[in-house]
Amino acid sequence: MSIKALEKAVEIAGGQSALGRLIDRDQKAIWAWINTTQKVPAEDVLKIEDALEGKVSRFELRPDVYPKPKPLDKIRIIGGQELNGELPISGAKNAALKIMCAALLTDQSLHLENMPNALRDIDSQTELLTHLGCVISSERDLMAINAKNVKDFTAPYEIVRKMRGSILVLGPLLARFGEAKVSLPGGCAIGTRPVDLHIKGLEDMGAEITLEGGYINAKAPKGLTGAKIVFPKVSVGATENLMMAATLAKGETILSNAAREPEIADLGECLIKMGAKIDGLGTDTIRIEGVKSLSGAHHSVLPDRIETGTWLIAAGMTGGTIKLKNARIEHLSSVMGLLAQSGMEIEQDGEDIIVHRNGLRLKGIDIMTDPYPGFPTDLQAQFMAMLTLAEGAAMVTETIFENRFMHVPELNRMGADITAQGNSAIIRGVKKLKGAEVMATDLRASVALVLAGLVAEGETVVNRIYHLERGYENIVEKLQGVGAQIEKF
Ligand code: UD1
Repeated sequence: MSIKALEKAVEIAGGQSALGRLIDRDQKAIWAWINTTQKVPAEDVLKIEDALEGKVSRFELRPDVYPKPKPLDKIRIIGGQELNGELPISGAKNAALKIMCAALLTDQSLHLENMPNALRDIDSQTELLTHLGCVISSERDLMAINAKNVKDFTAPYEIVRKMRGSILVLGPLLARFGEAKVSLPGGCAIGTRPVDLHIKGLEDMGAEITLEGGYINAKAPKGLTGAKIVFPKVSVGATENLMMAATLAKGETILSNAAREPEIADLGECLIKMGAKIDGLGTDTIRIEGVKSLSGAHHSVLPDRIETGTWLIAAGMTGGTIKLKNARIEHLSSVMGLLAQSGMEIEQDGEDIIVHRNGLRLKGIDIMTDPYPGFPTDLQAQFMAMLTLAEGAAMVTETIFENRFMHVPELNRMGADITAQGNSAIIRGVKKLKGAEVMATDLRASVALVLAGLVAEGETVVNRIYHLERGYENIVEKLQGVGAQIEKF
């Protein structure tokens, strides 16, 4: 195939996304053509990249003409600017990742809106689903996934190690195809994070599971059967995996001591649109009546409450007034009360939240993380960054993950006074932080360092920002938009 033929194909297919589908069917042939061509003519490279919708890049086609740019790996912040203006909230990463897996439950297309498509974790999930055989197209905040031609049931280590959310393909693959082989997951290094609850629940539903060579091998040749499952511990991921598996199981499944996070309810609502029968979303008892098959659907992902909480805390630290667009205040009730107690003014304006701190210093208050509706572990590091500057002492207790204080030594390097012991940390408020070079260790710890940098005196450099790009869409641009002095380099 030549560029002429590609152009013809675009014309026949009537547009880029139709061509995308054509290319997905015929990708092998196109790759073979690229590989046998000695060199793609330099003048055609950009056209081909465009026509193939980014599936091959200019850097692969002609590295001599287009040398790969060095990835930006650091953020520089000059602290001390008040933040003022509007910040748009993206779709929730932790809902989007699971809803993408729900597409595996049907041979029809799932159309998603408000997707945080500029996130690395979404790229990893896209890579995994594409590897399994899904056809995915995305544009701005829209995504369409079709899992009609899934033929591979293995989620390989190379992809799964990047992100724990990939374990969520296990339940859907097993439920629809009767088999799945999924590598044990990676993700943030915030604890041992086992997946025993996922495995035990699927076994209760009749699956035969063995662990071999770092892989979970699961089989249910006659399909899954509904079961009564009582979780010994509240788990977001296990609740989601089993809820998805149960939608296609024979009979009723009851999940007791289920997690109640809004992202689980959002996934459940998407499944209901696909034809699933689910009751009790948002409570600790979820009932699912299995159906024979599910269909396609349209769903808009809920706004990210962790991103919302992060920017509320940013406003508290820097002062100023920020309007958070398209945020859902009701998903942050445990955090709102605490922010108000510490001295911030927060008001709701329809779908938006306006947050303001007057010139007064914030007050130190104690927090303890808990499953939803308790204080989210995913906001613990950011809240601690804020407490470093509050008046008086405060205590932070982490009850969900055992290794989630990795931001403590880095914040101390910036002049904070924090002593951590076991799962608690005492923070004695200081008057100011000082800019320093710091290392991002996990997603939420990284953003806590960015928040500290926004108020620290002088320059802060945050290394290894790929952690941030896993979970915060366009973070640099968003913060620049409200007046922060921040740049990637
Ligand atoms: C999800 C979120 C993560 C958040 C966490 C808790 C995604 C992609 N990630 O992670 O951002 O911090 O919820 O709100 O949505 N556990 C077991 N056995 C299991 C499963 C979990 O012992 O089989 C333990 C974990 O080690 C942890 C606790 O249960 O101590 C809670 O984990 P879980 O709710 O499952 O977190 P994730 O779903 O991994």
